[in-house]
Amino acid sequence: MRIITTVAEMQTLVRDLRAAGSTIGCVPTMGALHDGHASLIKSAAEQHGTVITSIFVNPTQFAPTEDLSKYPRNLERDTLIVAQAGGTVIFAPTVDEMYPSGFSTSIHVGGITEVFEGARRPGHFDGVATIVAKLLIAMSPDEAYFGQKDYQQTLVVRTLVRDLGLPCTITVRDTVREADGLAMSSRNVYLNEEERAQASSLYRALILARTMIENGERRATEIEHAMSATLLQIPGLTIDYASVVMADTLATCDVLPEKTNVVLLLAVRIGTTRLIDNMRCTVGG
Ligand code: PAF
Repeated sequence: MRIITTVAEMQTLVRDLRAAGSTIGCVPTMGALHDGHASLIKSAAEQHGTVITSIFVNPTQFAPTEDLSKYPRNLERDTLIVAQAGGTVIFAPTVDEMYPSGFSTSIHVGGITEVFEGARRPGHFDGVATIVAKLLIAMSPDEAYFGQKDYQQTLVVRTLVRDLGLPCTITVRDTVREADGLAMSSRNVYLNEEERAQASSLYRALILARTMIENGERRATEIEHAMSATLLQIPGLTIDYASVVMADTLATCDVLPEKTNVVLLLAVRIGTTRLIDNMRCTVGG
């Protein structure tokens, strides 16, 4: 495994690998890797001679009240997971490398960042867009892989890459789930045993809503109420949002239009842990 820590070294390596005929896939992560990340790395390894996994806990996407300091970090364990999944290079820069003294640029993607996670986590998507642009410039991949679990983030990244004309294909892969349906997330380690059991309620709420749509329900409020009712059976759970919106724009719709794609979006708090999940559905499809 090659572990690269500077942008300059990363760019030189990519140039050399390309000259030797390799295409480059990359998987941007904040470490604390799980099977969801591993499946992205495996996907990338099926398509590309070189797979670079970036591991960087990006401070600019955390609000001061969030979990930056306690975010799980374990490069040794992550390296094993990358190797097992077929990754060949890790890009693990320091904070100073990515944000040297005097750094004063921030990328703001408009529109879709105003709602849901963007509305509740001010500045979060500016941090994500800025670091993703920097990581893509450093790794110059042909294709970058992201998990659907952070659904709004995938829309932000697609918009960023399109608007800046970054020469890279964005591929989004399905959320990988635990046996009881809980979406894999580095933050699941914050849940205690009882909370962990309760956390499968998100998946149950999504499946219920999808079944309602499959059975012909088109009223957004009915679907949203049903998801909320499922979630609120869990004592101590609070809901940030439980919504059904248009999949490409996150626009609300009172009545789900036929033959369109919608996405069910959930954000809840169980104890002190905030969890998000989502599911895309085709209406009448
Ligand atoms: O999804 C993540 O892990 C992060 O938001 C990302 C895309 C690596 C940017 O820091």
